[in-house]
Amino acid sequence: STERTLVLVKPDGVARNLSGAILSRIEAKGYVLADLKLVQAGRDQLEAHYAEHLGKPFYEPLLEFMLSGPVVAAIFEGERVIEGFRSLAGATDPTVAAPGTIRGDFGRDWGQKVQQNLVHGSDSVESAEREIAIWF
Ligand code: CMP
Repeated sequence: STERTLVLVKPDGVARNLSGAILSRIEAKGYVLADLKLVQAGRDQLEAHYAEHLGKPFYEPLLEFMLSGPVVAAIFEGERVIEGFRSLAGATDPTVAAPGTIRGDFGRDWGQKVQQNLVHGSDSVESAEREIAIWF
């Protein structure tokens, strides 16, 4: 059935001028852009977004990274868009993400304590609705 997903172009993607290229790939696959904005995240917002990762070793570096510059927040719609975007994004670790994916084509390890992996996508219908409420 038709779903919505939250996509974030993370600060590395925005800083490297890849926002347009990334959004273009999602649109080219056929998903429909439903809302879009550039936003400097706040710490409270990120703590809510990443609540499930609290206590993990990469949690603080992740928040620092996500606070380091603006992100593009987007809502995309379509049949199975949650699964479809995650496939397009590729594996979490950009070093090994398959070529042809956003992370595989545009990302690599920059030697930081967190995966700077260009994009975030919701992982379930429940997460998508929760995350959309945080960012929009
Ligand atoms: P994201 O999909 O936004 O969800 C959590 C983020 O934490 C993830 O993308 C990566 O940026 C980062 N991350 C996940 N796992 C690790 C890890 N093992 N080491 C470093 N960073 C990670």
